[in-house]
Amino acid sequence: MQQEKLLALFGELSLEEKIGELFQVPPFFFDGGNATGPAEEMGICSEDIRVAGSCLSLIGAQKLAQVQKLHMENHPHHIPMLFMADIINGYRTVFPIPLAQGCTFDPDMTEKCAAIAARESAASGIHVTFSPMVDLVRDARWGRVMESTGEDPYLNGLMAAAMVRGYQGQDREHIGRGKVAACVKHFAGYGAPDGGRDYNTVELSERTLRQDYLPGYQAAIDAGAALVMTSFNTLDRVPSSANAWLMRQVLRKEMGFDGVLISDWAAIQELIAHGIAEDALQAASLAMNAGVDIDMATPVYIKNLKALVESGRVSEALIDEAALRVLMLKNKLGLFENPYKDASEADEQSILMCESHREAARSCAEKTFVLLKNEEALLPLNPEETVAFIGPYVDSRFISGAWSIFGDDDSCVTLREGVKCMVPGARAVFAPGCTLIDPGVEIVGFQKNPPRETLDPETALAEAVRLASTADKVVLVLGEPRDYSGECASRSELTLPKCQMKLLEQVCEVNPKVCVVLFNGRPLDLRQVSEAAQAVLEAWLPGTEGGSALARVLYGLESPSGKLSMSMPYCVGQVPVYYNHMRTGRPLLGDYRTTKFCSQYLDIPNEPLYPFGYGLSYTSFAYSGVTLDRASLHKGETLRASIRVTNTGTRTGTETVQLYIQDVAGSVTRPVRELKGFRKLTLAPGESGQVTFDITEQMLRFYTISGDYASEPGTFRIFIGPDSRAEQQAQFTLT
Ligand code: NOJ
Repeated sequence: MQQEKLLALFGELSLEEKIGELFQVPPFFFDGGNATGPAEEMGICSEDIRVAGSCLSLIGAQKLAQVQKLHMENHPHHIPMLFMADIINGYRTVFPIPLAQGCTFDPDMTEKCAAIAARESAASGIHVTFSPMVDLVRDARWGRVMESTGEDPYLNGLMAAAMVRGYQGQDREHIGRGKVAACVKHFAGYGAPDGGRDYNTVELSERTLRQDYLPGYQAAIDAGAALVMTSFNTLDRVPSSANAWLMRQVLRKEMGFDGVLISDWAAIQELIAHGIAEDALQAASLAMNAGVDIDMATPVYIKNLKALVESGRVSEALIDEAALRVLMLKNKLGLFENPYKDASEADEQSILMCESHREAARSCAEKTFVLLKNEEALLPLNPEETVAFIGPYVDSRFISGAWSIFGDDDSCVTLREGVKCMVPGARAVFAPGCTLIDPGVEIVGFQKNPPRETLDPETALAEAVRLASTADKVVLVLGEPRDYSGECASRSELTLPKCQMKLLEQVCEVNPKVCVVLFNGRPLDLRQVSEAAQAVLEAWLPGTEGGSALARVLYGLESPSGKLSMSMPYCVGQVPVYYNHMRTGRPLLGDYRTTKFCSQYLDIPNEPLYPFGYGLSYTSFAYSGVTLDRASLHKGETLRASIRVTNTGTRTGTETVQLYIQDVAGSVTRPVRELKGFRKLTLAPGESGQVTFDITEQMLRFYTISGDYASEPGTFRIFIGPDSRAEQQAQFTLT
C-alpha cells in the first residue's frame, strides 16, 4: 500500500482502534495456540480481540487463514493481524541450537538455515519470528546460553546479521515471499543475569553494556531487523520495558532503530512485580512513555492506555507513533495486499522438512560438532572395527533444542539410525535399554514414547559394560536432557548426572578406547569426562538430522571443524569465564598452586578447561610466524598481517584461523585480547595456505575514558592461531 493510502487509513482509526494495534493476543484465545509463557485469567473480551493488532504463537496455514479472515471481517477497518512466533533454530526442520551454530564460525551457513526457517514458517502463516536472540553470554549456568551464538561480540554480530538476512531477505523496503520479519531480542543485557538465574537482576556498567553487549543488537539493527524485543531484566535497577533512556535515547537515537518495539511476554505487567509500578495503569504509562509499542500477551495496554490518554498521563501522539509503526510493519510485509501472505497448505505439504531442508540441517550439524580431545587418533572410527554404542542418548530423539517447539521429535534421526543409514556396513553393536540408565534423558517425551525395553536399570548397566568389554572401541553417548537448557532452565551444577558418570567409569574400566559424545545445550564441567575418555566430541543439540550428521563425522565421512563459541569452564566455581576478560593489576602468571597474591583461586586454575575458539580436527595444522607489511598504522591505512598454515596430518581438514588483537595500554583497561577476524581454510595433507587479515584503525576503537568511541595511539599486539590461546604474535604501533 502506498504511504499516502496508509496514512489515510490511519487517519480513520479511533483511539481505541489505534490502541488495539498495540495489543498482542496470547495464544490460548484461539484453539491450539502454543503457550510459551504463563497463562492467566486476564479478562480479555471479544471487543479487545476485535481490534487486536497481532497474535502470538499460533501456527498452521489453514488455521491462520481462518483466523485472519474472521478477524478482518470483524475489524471495523478490516485491518489484518500480524502472526508472530518463536522460530528460533528452525521451524519443522530443526537446525542445531544457535550456540552450536556459533561453533561453525560460518555466518553464510547460518543465513541459509534462517532462510529455510523463514520459508517453512511463512508457509504456515507466520509473519514475524522472535529471533535472533543476540544476548552476549558468559555464564553457562544460564539455560538460555543455548539460544545465543556465544561469548564473543564480533562473532555474535556476524551471526546476528546473517540471521536477519536469512529471515528477511536483502530487500530493506519489503519482506517478500517466503520471508518473515526478524525481531532482535532481548534488549538489553538479558544474557548477564546475576548468578546465571533466568529473569534475575543484571548489573553491568554502562561501558561494558556499550562495549560488549550492544554490538550484537546493533549488527542486527544495521542488517535491517524490523522489530526489537525488550528484555525482562533490569539495567541500573530499571526494568527495560520502563527504561526511557535505553529505548528512546540508546535504541532509537543512538542505534538508529526505527522499527517496532515489542515487550517480552508480560514484561509490562511485570513492572508491578519489579516494584516500579503500583498497578497496571502505572505499568502501561511507564512502558508507553519509555517507547514500547506492543504489549505482548497481556491486556495492560488495551485496558489502560485510553484512560491514560484521557487523563493526560500519556500523550496521544505517542499512541499514534506506536500504532503507525505497527501498520507500517504490516505494510512492509505486504499484508494489505495479501493478508494471508505465504500461508499455503500445499506449500506446507511440499516444503516442511523436505529433502533439501533436511540435507541443509545435516550439513549444518556436521559443522557444529567440536572435537575436544582425540588421543591416539581414536576417531574417526573404522567400519571394520567393532564399535559398541552405549549410553542413554544413543536412541534418543530429543536432540533438538528446547526452542524447537514447532519441530517434530518423531522425525529426528537418532544416532543408531544415523549409523545404520549413513555407514551401512559398519560393525556397530548397540547396548539395549540404555535410556533406563538415565531416564531423565527423555524428560519431555517420556509420556509420549515410553521406553520399549523391559530391562531394569541395573541389568541395562551390566549389559552395557559387558558389550563394552567385547568391542574394539566404545562410543558412549552422554549429556543433559534438552529441557535442562532454554528458558527458565538455569542450573547450579554443570556436571553430568551421577548415573552417567558411573556408566562412564565402569565402561572405561573394561575398555580404555572410549569416545564420549555429548548432547547438551550449554558448556559443561567436563573434567572427569575428559580425564577418563580418550576422545570427546561435543555434539550440542543438533536437531532433525543430528544422528546422521554425527554418524558421518564419527566414521570420518566428514572431519569435525567446529570451534567453541563459548568457553568450557574448568568447573562451575569459575563462571562467568570468558576469553576476552579484562586485565587485572595482579594477573596470575604462574601456577596457582605455588603463587600467592595474584588474582586466582586456591584450588583451581583461572583458565577454562577448553577455551573459546578451540576445536580439533582429524588432521593437524602448523602455523608459521606472523608477518606484518608495516610496523605502524595511520588512520585511513590498512596494515596486513599474514600467516602460513600447513596441514601436517594425513587427512583433508578445515581450520578456522583466528585473529586476536590486544591494545597494550588504553585510557581504560582493555581485554586481554579480542577476536577481530577469522578465515576458514580447507587444506589437503601436506598443503599450505596463506591467510591475510587487513587491519584498520576502525577495528581498534573502543569506549575511551571520555566515553567517545575512538582509537588511541599506542602499541597493539596481534595473535593469530587456532583458538583464543593463539601464540603466534607480532606488534605494531597506531600513530
Ligand atoms: C519469553 C521469551 O523470553 C522470549 O524470548 C519469547 O520470544 C517470548 N517469551 C514469546 O514466546
